[in-house]
Amino acid sequence: MQKSIKLLSILVLAVLLIPACYYDVEEELYPTNNCDLESVTYTDVILPILEENCFVCHNAAAPQGGVQLEGYSSLKIYVDSGQLLGAIKHESGFSPMPQGQPQLDECTISKFQTWIDEGAMNN
Ligand code: HEC
Repeated sequence: MQKSIKLLSILVLAVLLIPACYYDVEEELYPTNNCDLESVTYTDVILPILEENCFVCHNAAAPQGGVQLEGYSSLKIYVDSGQLLGAIKHESGFSPMPQGQPQLDECTISKFQTWIDEGAMNN
């Protein structure tokens, strides 16, 4: 009798703890689980980020600081020079971008990094 109650309470406790443990583990395994770095292309991923955060100042018509990022070949110049990553990562020696605004979130920066690591293709 005593033994079966003990067994039962262990069982109940285990059942109660499993979801909690599962949640913890998942959090640890996938800290950036909302960051999709699967197919980071220029057209579908990079361009919309630039449109939203950068073209207001770096458009072809009136590029601020002479930095023109509109169009793949214009952007590629700043990719190859390292200025693009330096600026968005706020590395020393570069002007932090986007100017006058908070730094882009970690996932967005990772998308630039991934695209560049994969060859910064016009895809
Ligand atoms: C409010 C206007 C503004 C916005 C928004 C902005 N920039 Fe700039 N950016 C500038 C100005 C002005 C300069 C040139 C002066 C300077 O370097 O501070 C510049 C310079 C740069 C440079 C050259 C930096 C260097 O140190 O060589 C890069 C690369 C750049 N911007 C990329 C970006 C990217 C990418 C974004 C979007 C994530 C962005 N900028 C958003 C105004 C802006």
